[in-house]
Amino acid sequence: MRIAEKDVFGNERYEMKIGVPREIHPGEQRVAASPKNVERLKKMGFEVAVEASAGTAASFPDTAYVAAGAEIVADAATLWSDADIVLKVRPPAQHPRTGAHEANMLREGGTLISFIWPGENKDVVAALQARKATVLAMDCVPRITRAQKLDALSSMANIAGYRSVIEAAQHFGRFFTGQMTAAGKVPPARVLVVGAGVAGLAAIGAARGLGAIVRAFDTRPVVKEQIESMGAEFLTVELEEDGTGAGGYAKTMSDAFIEAEHRLFEAQAKEVDIIITTALIPGRPAPLLITEQAIANLKPGSVIVDLAAERGGNAALTKADEVVDADGVTIVGYTDLPSRMANVSSNLYGNNIAHLLDDMGGGEGYAVDEEDEVVRGALVVRDGKLMWPAPVKKLPEEQAKPTPEAAPVVVAPKEKKDNSFMTLALVGAALLGIGWTGSDDFLAHFTVFILACFVGWQVIWNVSAALHTPLMSVTNAISGIILVGGMLQLGGPLGEPATILGAAALLFATINVVGGFLVTQRMLKMFQK
Ligand code: NAI
Repeated sequence: MRIAEKDVFGNERYEMKIGVPREIHPGEQRVAASPKNVERLKKMGFEVAVEASAGTAASFPDTAYVAAGAEIVADAATLWSDADIVLKVRPPAQHPRTGAHEANMLREGGTLISFIWPGENKDVVAALQARKATVLAMDCVPRITRAQKLDALSSMANIAGYRSVIEAAQHFGRFFTGQMTAAGKVPPARVLVVGAGVAGLAAIGAARGLGAIVRAFDTRPVVKEQIESMGAEFLTVELEEDGTGAGGYAKTMSDAFIEAEHRLFEAQAKEVDIIITTALIPGRPAPLLITEQAIANLKPGSVIVDLAAERGGNAALTKADEVVDADGVTIVGYTDLPSRMANVSSNLYGNNIAHLLDDMGGGEGYAVDEEDEVVRGALVVRDGKLMWPAPVKKLPEEQAKPTPEAAPVVVAPKEKKDNSFMTLALVGAALLGIGWTGSDDFLAHFTVFILACFVGWQVIWNVSAALHTPLMSVTNAISGIILVGGMLQLGGPLGEPATILGAAALLFATINVVGGFLVTQRMLKMFQK
C-alpha cells in the first residue's frame, strides 16, 4: 500500500497495487487478468501492473493492457516485489528466469490470490507462511449460491466441459449430427457423458449443440432433471443408492454400485461413439469407471475424453496429458483444457477474482474479513498463519447424519441475509411518507405499497437462486399490473408523491418486463435445435 496523493485537506489517500505476472508453468497460456479485468480493477480503485507479455498467449497484447490503464513491467522480480496483491493462475513454483521460487518473490507480508490446492502443495503453503503472506485460494472458494460469481472451479470446469467435446470432435472421424445426403446417410454420433457436474453439463450442452445423441449418468439423482432439460437421456443402474454428499458434491459410492456402473458402461460402450468422463469426488482419486473391457467394447474410431486424468482418470488406459491409441480407440487425457481456450478462460477467471476483490471492499475499502464465509473459505494463510482448512459449517439437519467426506469446503447453512437494513429502510420510507403528506388517502395507499415491498422482498429472497430465472418470467404478469397502475398515476399533477411513485413503478416494472422477455427468449433458445 502506498500514498497515492493528498486531498485538498491534506489527508493521505492510500492505493493498493495489483501485480499480474506471466504464468511460468510449461504450456500454461492463461493469465490472471485480461485487459477488461484490468479496467474493472482500476474502476474499483486499484493500481495494476502487468508483466510484459503476460497475456500474449491468451491473445491479450501488452498494448491492450496499456489501453486499459495498466503499467507494463518488464522485470518479473520487480513486479512481484512491488505489488501489494499478486494475481496468479497456477500455484507458485520455481521461476525459470529469476531462479527464485515465486513464493519468495512475493514481498514480505504481501497477498497472493491464485489456485493453490493447499492439500497437495504443502511446501508452497509453508514457503508462503515464511513470507508472512496472506493467501486466498480460488480453489477453496466455497460452492455456495452467494459465491457463484467468484467460483473459478466452476468457470474453468464449464470451459473444460465444452472443450472436451471439441477435442472429441477433433479425433472423431464423423459428423456429430446425422446427415442425409445424396452420397448417403450418416448416423448421428452417440455421446455418453459420465458425471454431470459443471463440466459434464457443459459437455452435454456442447454435444447436443453439435447435434449428437447424448446420454448421461451421475450418482446424484438430483441432476436427472437438468440432464433431461438439456435434451439428453438419463441412464440408471438397477441399484438404488443416492450419491449426494455434502455441499452439493458427490460422495464415494459402494463397491457394489461401482460394479453396477462398470456393467452399465460396458454395455453402453457397444452402442456409443464418444465417452466423456468427468466423475470426481473432491479430495479423492478419480473413481475408475470405464474398464478395459468397456474400452475394448468401443468401436474403432471411438473417442474417450477423460477430464479426470489429473486425478488418475475415470478410464482404465488414460495417461495424463497424453493422447493414447488403444486398438483404434483414442483416449484423450489432457489436463489443461481451460488453458487451451486461454482467451475466454483468462477473462472469466479474472472476473472471478475481480468479484472476490469487490466483495473484499475494492481498492479503497480492501480488508480480509474472516466473518465473511466466502473469504474465510478461500483464506489459506493470513499474515503467515495457516488458516486452512476452514472450519466446516453444517446445515442443522445434517448435523445428525454422519458426514460422508471431509472435503475442505465450507458447507453453507441456508443463506440468511441480514434483512434489518431493508426493514429499516422500509420503515424509514413509511415515516417519510407520513411526514411528506398529511392526506389519509395517500397514507392508506402508501402503507399498502410498503407492505407489498416487504412481502415481495421476503418472498423473492426465500426462493432458491436457481429458480430466479423462471421467477423473473412469472413476475412479468405482476409487472403488467404495476405498469397499468403506474400509468394511471402519471395523470396526476407533476411533483405529487403519487405521480413520482407512479413514474418509479413504471420504470422498475418496465425493466422487469424487458428483462423477463430477454430471459424467456434465452430459455426458449436453449430448447431450440
Ligand atoms: P463436479 O464436482 O461439479 O462434478 C463431478 C460429478 O461427478 C458430480 O456431478 C458427481 O456427482 C459425479 N460423480 C462422482 N462420482 C461418480 C461416479 N462414481 N459415477 C458417476 N458420476 C459420479 O466437478 P466439475 O467441476 O464438473 O469437474 C469435473 C472434472 O473435470 C473433475 O475431475 C475436474 O478435476 C475436471 N477438470 C478437468 C479439467 C481438465 O483440463 N482436464 C479442467 C477443469 C476440471
